[in-house]
Amino acid sequence: MALRIGAAMHIENLPNAKAVYIHENIDDLSLTVAERIAASAAQAIGARGVFHLVLAGGETPRRCYDKLHNLAIDWAHVRLYLGDERCLPRGDAQRNDTMIRDTLLNRINIPAGNLHFIPAELGPRAAAINYASLLRGVAQLDLVLLGMGEDGHTASLFPGNPATESGEVAVPVFNAPKPPAERVTLGLSILSGARQKIFLVAGAGKRSALKLILEGASLPAARVGAAEWHLDRAALPDQ
Ligand code: 6PG
Repeated sequence: MALRIGAAMHIENLPNAKAVYIHENIDDLSLTVAERIAASAAQAIGARGVFHLVLAGGETPRRCYDKLHNLAIDWAHVRLYLGDERCLPRGDAQRNDTMIRDTLLNRINIPAGNLHFIPAELGPRAAAINYASLLRGVAQLDLVLLGMGEDGHTASLFPGNPATESGEVAVPVFNAPKPPAERVTLGLSILSGARQKIFLVAGAGKRSALKLILEGASLPAARVGAAEWHLDRAALPDQ
C-alpha cells in the first residue's frame, strides 16, 4: 500500500513533485503504477477515445509492465510510444522495445498500428527526425512513464549532455555515459507537456541522485515538471 507523503518527510520537497508515494518494495510500487495506468487509460479513452502512453525503458518498469496484462485496459484505443531508445539493431536484447515486447506486448492483444516505437536502428539523427514527425500528429501525450538513473538522468537526457538542453520533440543523443553512447530521446519540453508524468524509482542505487535533487541539484529528472513520484523505501536517502 503506498504511503502518501505527509509534511513529516523531507522527501516531499522533490522540486517538481505533484505527489510522492513511498512503497515498501518494487512489487507494491509496480502494482500501484500499473493500476494508475489503467485508471488513466479509462479516463482518457472515455474523454477522447484514445490514450497516448509513453513507456519508460531500463529495468525498473519491467514488473509494472508484467502486471498490466492482468488489468482491464482497452488496448485497441491505446497508442504506445517510447521515452527513449538505444541505437542498436532491431531485436537487440538491449533495446527498450525488446524489453517491452517480452514483458507486455507478448501478453496483450494490441493492434500493430498502435505501436509507435523509435526506429533507433536508423541512427540518432535520422531516427530523431522520423520520430519527431510521428509525434507532430499527437496534440498532447496523456501519460509518460519515466525512470531515473543513478546520475539523475531520465529517458536519455543525461546531466551535462547537449541533448538535455534541446527544445526539440525528439533528440539525437551522442556520448551518453550509459551504454550505448548513441540514443534517441524525447526532449524535456514534450515530457513536461504531457498530461501526467509518473516516475518509477527503486533501489538503493538511486539514493544519491534523489539526495542531490532534494539539495537543489537541477538534474534532468528534477526538470520534468509536475510529476508524480513512486519510490520504494530502498531508494530513500537516509532520513
Ligand atoms: C534507458 C532508460 C533509462 C532508464 C534509467 C533507469 O534506456 O536506459 O530509458 O532512462 O529509465 O537509466 O534505469 P533502471 O530502471 O534500469 O535503473
